[in-house]
Amino acid sequence: MQAALEQILDDSQPIKWNFSVDAYMAETYDFSDHDLNALYQKTKANQWDVNTDIDWSYELNADNPLGMPDGTLLIYGSDIWNKLDDKGRAEIRHHSQGWTLSQVLHGEQAAMICAAKLATAEESLSARLCAAGQMIDEARHIEAFGRLVNDKLPISYPMSKALKGLLEDTITSSKLDMTNLGMQVLVEGIALSLFQSIVAYSKDPFIKDLVSRIQRDEARHFAMGRITLCRVYKEMSGTERKEREEFVAEGAYTLYEHLCADDIWEPMGLSKKECSHLVRNSEVANSMRRSIFRRLVPTIREMGLLSPRVRDTFEKLGVLDYAAMPMPA
Ligand SMILES: [Fe+2]
Ligand SMILES: [Fe+2]
Repeated sequence: MQAALEQILDDSQPIKWNFSVDAYMAETYDFSDHDLNALYQKTKANQWDVNTDIDWSYELNADNPLGMPDGTLLIYGSDIWNKLDDKGRAEIRHHSQGWTLSQVLHGEQAAMICAAKLATAEESLSARLCAAGQMIDEARHIEAFGRLVNDKLPISYPMSKALKGLLEDTITSSKLDMTNLGMQVLVEGIALSLFQSIVAYSKDPFIKDLVSRIQRDEARHFAMGRITLCRVYKEMSGTERKEREEFVAEGAYTLYEHLCADDIWEPMGLSKKECSHLVRNSEVANSMRRSIFRRLVPTIREMGLLSPRVRDTFEKLGVLDYAAMPMPA
């Protein structure tokens, strides 16, 4: 067991991804883009400090650091779960929560890189100001989740293979709107729903407060993606749009698979094959994974990207119902 844990915690070399962008420099300063300007003003007005606004001396419950109900665990209610004693159940919570927040933390770092790219390469100055504001938000989220994972959780995990692939495609794309789509809509859309679930279900006031603050910041980033991309896709030709639809379909499938958390079973001495099969066939786990798509799917519809190919993927994932839902506030 110890050897497995050390392996998980082993620091790997930093990943290096390459991209090149055009840097835009405005020569006139026009702040008449009402929607993006309002978002930028909101960003400035809603800053907070991880170091001084959060009481880091607060102790989390050692057996259930995030204070989440067991019903949210992927193998809850299975024979494997039912046979576990209290110590075994705490171990499942540790790995599950450590994995989830580690993935979120890696995503936050990728979001900071994407925001830097957008702050350089968005043609509109208003969009670049929003992205510049997002950079400090993402830096704050790295600090918050970094401290939570390092100091408050018993275990951390490297990026899942699925997430790494999606983030690489998103960051290195030569098409700026695809960086925007991959990060601000796909990854942020999923993260936002996950944060909403943590805020709704966690019994821990520290976690609720911290994640609510981050959720408010993320809602602005998601809004920025929606506003800028709805404009881009309204003008885009069918051939170019097809490439974006393919990206959405593959990205949604990747994220759905990623949420199965296949990496956590072996380090606990459980069968990866058995648990992965269990998770994919569990009604509870599937309905939880589906619910994480509740923001993403109506947004894709709103952007005009709900092609037959994307519709088919959403149907296979069991999330197409959300396409009929109004955009959440
Ligand atoms: Fe973030
Ligand atoms: Fe974000």
